[in-house]
Amino acid sequence: MRQKINGETKVLGLIGNPIEHTISPIIHNILASKLDMNYVYLPFKVENGMLDKAIEGARALNIKGLNVTVPYKEQVMDKLIEITPFAKQIGAVNTLKFTDNGYIGYNTDADGLNASLIKNSIKLKDSKIVIIGAGGAAKAVGMLCAREKCKKITIINRTVIKGQILANNIRQYYNVETKVLGLDEIGKIEPFDIAIQTTPIGMSPKVHDNPIDDTDFYKKFHIAVDLIYNPTKTEFLEEAEKNGIKILNGFGMLFYQGIKAYEVWNDIIITEDILEDVMNELINLYG
Ligand code: ATR
Repeated sequence: MRQKINGETKVLGLIGNPIEHTISPIIHNILASKLDMNYVYLPFKVENGMLDKAIEGARALNIKGLNVTVPYKEQVMDKLIEITPFAKQIGAVNTLKFTDNGYIGYNTDADGLNASLIKNSIKLKDSKIVIIGAGGAAKAVGMLCAREKCKKITIINRTVIKGQILANNIRQYYNVETKVLGLDEIGKIEPFDIAIQTTPIGMSPKVHDNPIDDTDFYKKFHIAVDLIYNPTKTEFLEEAEKNGIKILNGFGMLFYQGIKAYEVWNDIIITEDILEDVMNELINLYG
């Protein structure tokens, strides 16, 4: 197991603001150590207005890969030499890979969620999905569900027009049935399979908030996914579990988006036993 930084160490990192609460450095530095690769992964807080300089500087410093988080996932797109078609559809990039000519942009958030769903035997194909929220995270989820050939996507959002824009955006690329409802129209929802909660509602410290209070809602589906991982069980998941619904939080998505970024940077596939090893180490650290 490698522990030393030396003259050959390559740098990876995360740009965003704020970034103090990230656990990505933990995931990536454990990965580098398990794979015995000479990498170090660092958080870089980029102040408003400094993104251009940050990307140029990273390139000049030969930084091999960057993750990008809030608020730069969209803004960063015009600083890249190439973007994968799926990241273009989502309209956001969370992973940059260094090349001699500049950075290539990827989106591993959606594929991270997909890997977590697969690991937990949750099948998007032919399922009727309800997406709660229509922000950046919902975009990645919506495109993923459509790409994986789900049967129907219903978007529930406080601001209905934003839901409609997302639905239109999805249908621009995929032939899938969509429906959009406001939060006050939840009673109209017909039975479906999977609810995916994408808003920040219920995130620490406001752990008692729930985007959907209507108890009848929880009688209409059998799998609940929340992209939030802190707390590990949001009020939304708590309510779902009380109703006998299978639940999954966002930790797996976070974990696998990181794994996928590492695979992109290094052109490798990380094996199941390494994944288990890294996951166990994280569980030991975070309980
Ligand atoms: P992200 O990129 O994390 O998805 P975002 O783009 O700001 O963040 O989107 C946040 C989502 O949470 C939106 O769907 C937002 O609803 P609106 O489109 O109506 O703004 C939703 N959201 C955030 N706070 C909310 C609240 N207090 N009540 C209802 N919806 C809320």
